Order: sequence, then structure tokens, then C-alpha cells
Amino acid sequence: MCGIVAYIGSREAAPILLEGLKRLEYRGYDSAGVAVIHDGKIAVRREAGKLKNLVKAVQAEPLQGSVGIGHTRWATHGEPSERNAHPHASASGDIVVVHNGIVENFLELKEELQQSGVTFRSETDTEVIAQLIEHYAAGGTTLFEAVQSAVGRLRGAHGIVVISSHEPDRIIAARLGNAGGVAIGAGQGEMFVASDMPALLDHTRRMAFLDSGQIALVTRDGFSVRTLEGTAVEVPLQTVDWDAAAAEKGNYAHFMHKEIHEQVRSLGDTMAGRVDFERGEVFLPTLQLTPAVARRIKRVILTACGTASHAGMVGRILIERLARIPSEVDIASELRYRDPIIDRDTAVIAISQSGETADTLAAMDEARRKGAVLWSIVNVVGSQAMRIADGYLSMQTGPEIGVASTKAFTAPLVDLFLLAVLLGKLRGTLPDSERLERVAELRKLPGLVGECLSREESLSKAADALKDVTHCLYLGRGSSMPIAYEGALKLKEISYIHAEAYPAGEMKHGPIALVDKSMPVIALAPRDPWYEKMISQIEQTKARGGTVIAVCTDGDDRIPAMVDFAIPIPYVSWMLSPVLTIIPLQLLAYKTAVLRGCDVDQPRNLAKSVTVE
Ligand code: F6R
Repeated sequence: MCGIVAYIGSREAAPILLEGLKRLEYRGYDSAGVAVIHDGKIAVRREAGKLKNLVKAVQAEPLQGSVGIGHTRWATHGEPSERNAHPHASASGDIVVVHNGIVENFLELKEELQQSGVTFRSETDTEVIAQLIEHYAAGGTTLFEAVQSAVGRLRGAHGIVVISSHEPDRIIAARLGNAGGVAIGAGQGEMFVASDMPALLDHTRRMAFLDSGQIALVTRDGFSVRTLEGTAVEVPLQTVDWDAAAAEKGNYAHFMHKEIHEQVRSLGDTMAGRVDFERGEVFLPTLQLTPAVARRIKRVILTACGTASHAGMVGRILIERLARIPSEVDIASELRYRDPIIDRDTAVIAISQSGETADTLAAMDEARRKGAVLWSIVNVVGSQAMRIADGYLSMQTGPEIGVASTKAFTAPLVDLFLLAVLLGKLRGTLPDSERLERVAELRKLPGLVGECLSREESLSKAADALKDVTHCLYLGRGSSMPIAYEGALKLKEISYIHAEAYPAGEMKHGPIALVDKSMPVIALAPRDPWYEKMISQIEQTKARGGTVIAVCTDGDDRIPAMVDFAIPIPYVSWMLSPVLTIIPLQLLAYKTAVLRGCDVDQPRNLAKSVTVE
């Protein structure tokens, strides 16, 4: 849940590390620190709070040296404070560590070290790693071997980067389990290490990604990798085509706002090369989906967390309708512990922006153990969820920096639609004429999203009406029901307004008791098979004095006459309408949060990748 960056080369390390941390601040932002080797000594600067505090501290007391490591933290053990901020040093101060993950057996290891006379300065689990490495290095082994021995003692999932003043010409990086990535970037006479690509993109596109159980020795001129057991492994450099500008805010005040607007492009990109609109054909080669597998599947489980699970809820409806396969959505944190009934005729589809969400990866492991066909839909290229699946679809959205997921919600909706069409074709459940028609409609989707975005200003009044409320309800039916959930999640996570979502038909079974003047209802009522049902739902809400904000279709004159704020969007059929209905809800949440003065890109208590349970 933290961001890691490291540098070894001939330039001053500190500015490179601070710049890299700036790109990773979304991973954790309660404290930050850097450590640089100079003249045989390691100097550390750490500060509680946001990165700017650390930048000031380094300006006040500059650091010299061309080898260093940095960290931005999201606390797991110990309060967010300078003392608990990374890097953490061993007792002698000669070995310094940054870490992402949780040492599950840290109390046991701490006690063992304390018994041998080591005293601890922080409450963190990470300090145990630094002390343990020093303990093993004291036996006269190299830094690499000491890290190898120490990492071998840790339980849990970890990304770790280490430097030592005794071996100032190297950085050691290790990955154990799924606590986020460890990427090694190659430059000319300089090398970089980071937990995430945006920290490296300013410097290089040539990157290698460590797998679980691998340790790298990184020098100015290159790197070599061994397994924990000591076997040498070849980890190839890959060329990553994300550009650094994509990880910048541009003219937007917030990453979230920029990312909402990027959906015209990201949706076009996610279809590019995968669809022949004229012939109604879909190509998903990275999925490894053969006709035999398509015919064999008897059940589909979509597993994910948060926003990604809402995309799964739409996917379930599409796969059932177009491919006629019984489908369900299983929240990854539940699936992993339920001993679910999964066999080789079950396809498990994991959806994850980061590809590193601990619960989603554990659910994938469970599916793998039970012999399922295992697919993933992921954004971060090279992530664990992409690598451990039998086949994958890459979302093609580029980096998503805002903590609240937006473009990584709509891209998988299109990916799941494509998958449903392909499964429908291969299983013979989707007639050619319908396939042609459905695929042709896809082509206009990016343009229609652009049309929704161009109406942003018309949402200002509705945002103004929401900004002072404490609770609200989101309602939808059919393919809009998951959008009610997603709209409510967007509002609650960035504006801190309590927002609850319900399938609209459930209202009369309890929640309608909540409706009065102080409880606004956001209703999704596009022209679809559930339209008339939504009309009657809106009537019942209005009859109880509730304020209604409704998303409806252009040309509809019934809904605007009934509600307080109507938000018309262009028409598209119900299978694709979630891609449009969510756009005004993303913008509404964004505008409301801005009006409330909230930190939109880094909401309290949240981090971008949830790599711990
Ligand atoms: C909400 C949000 C989270 C993530 C969830 C899964 O805006 O961002 O709910 O969707 O933590 O993350 P990924 O998709 O990285 O697995």
C-alpha cells in the first residue's frame, strides 16, 4: 500500500527520488522519506504528512550522493509519524530498508531479535526487516545473501528495497507474494527500481518485473536476479508504451477530473484492434479462449473488489444474456475464504485496475487450485493478476492516478461486452444478425461518452443541491442497478456523504421508510426495458417529498416533468447504457466533493492499490 522508488547512477539521487515519490503519492500519503549514500555513510530524511513536508526537509538539509531509496507510506503498523516513516535503518545505521506489505510474523521476529540484544526505534514491522538483514550480514555474508536469508524468514507479501553503506555500489530489491510490484527500470549507466511504473516513466520505458520469490541485485550497469533459493533466473526487459505525460494532471485541477475526461480515448483504445465493426467480429487473442473452452464452460464467476466488482455486476448480466452461461459476482474477499464450488468447467474472471489487489489475487489463487479456467481483466501491464491468469484482457486506459476509479470502470464494461459477444458467437447463442447489430453500436460509444462529458456544466445545480446533505439513495434496475452501486461508491469515497445504493424494486421492502425531504434520491431511468418500473419508483419517491435527481434519455419529457433535476444523456441500448449512465454520476460525485472542499485525488483513509487484506 506504499510507494517505493530507488536510484543508482551518476546523477544526484535525491531529486530523482523525490520526483518519483511525487508520481507515487497516490499509493500512500501519510508520511514519506528518502535515504542516500554519501562518503560511506547513509543519510536519512523522513517527515510525517504529505510529500511536500519531506521536500521542504530535504531543501533545508540537502542530501548528496548518487545511490538512494525513497518511500511514501500508508500506515499499517504504527501511527503515521516521522519515527514510523520509511526508510528504516538497522541498529548500526549501515543498512536501510523501504518496504511495501505487512510482516505477518513480525512480533515473533522482533522478540527473537530483542533477545539477542537488538533495540527497536519504531513500532513498524519494517524495522524488523532492517534489523534481520543486519543480523545475517554480521556473519560476514554479502548484502545480497543477507537479504536472501532475511526475506526467507518473513511471512506475508512484500516488496523490499535495501541499501548498505558497506556495499555502496548496489541496490537489492525483493518481491515476495502480492504486496504490489517491483519494477526495475534500465537507463544509460543508471538504473531505477519502483513499486509502480509512473515513477520510472520520466527516465525509461525499458523495464523488468520481479515475480514473487525473486531477488535482484541492481548496479549502475544492469541487474541480475535469483530466486530465494539462489537459482539464477533471466528476467527480460520489456518496453512499456505508457508515456510519462499520461501520468500528469495536464490542465485539470485533479487527476480524477482528467481521468473522467480521458474515457473517450480509453474506450476507443480498449476496442482498438479487437473489433471488426463491419463483420461484427471480436478478437481477444490474449484471452486464449478456444471454441472448445467456450463450449465447455458451465458457469462464470466474476470476482473483484469495489468498483471493479460493479463492473463485474454488469458483466454478469451481459454474459448471461449473450452467451447463456449462468454467471455470478463473488466479492474477492469473500470468495477466498468460502471454499466455493469451482471446477474445471467454471470460468473465473478477475477484474482489477491495479492487478495487485491482495483479495483479488487470493481469489485467483483459490480458483487456480480448484482447476478453473482463469482469466483476468487488468489495467496495469505486467501486474500479478495479468501474469497468473490463463489469459487476460488489458484495459488500455493508461495509468489511473486518482484514488477513485473512473476510466478503469468503463473500460472493463467494454471488455466484458466483447467477451460476452465472443462467447455468444462461439457457443452459438448469439445469432449473427444480432451480433452485427450489437457490435455496430459499440463504434459510437466513445463519441456518446464525449457528448455526456460536454454537458458537465449542466450538473452544477444538482451538485449544489447535494453538497450539504448527509445521506442519499441511488436507485437503478437491470443494467443500471450496478451503476447505482458505483455512483454511490463514487460519492461516498470522495465527498464523505453517506450514499446507499439499492435495486429500485427493493425500495418498498424497507428503504422507502428513509425517504423524506432531507434524503435526495438519485434515480437511473434511461430508456430501457425497466423504464416504466423506474417511473413508478420515482413517483413513489416524489409522493414522499423526496428530492429526485434522475439520469434519463434525450427526448424523454416525462421524467424532466416529474423530478427536481433531470440529467439527459444520449440513447444507447441497455447493454451499453452503463457506460453512459455512469459518466454524469462520476461528474456529480466529483463536483460535489470539490464544492465540499474535499481532497478528491487522495480521499481520507484510502489508497490506490489495496495490497493488504
Ligand atoms: C473505488 C476504488 C476501489 C477499487 C478496489 C479494487 O473507486 O478505486 O473500490 O476499485 O480497491 O481495486 P483494483 O481494481 O485495483 O483491484
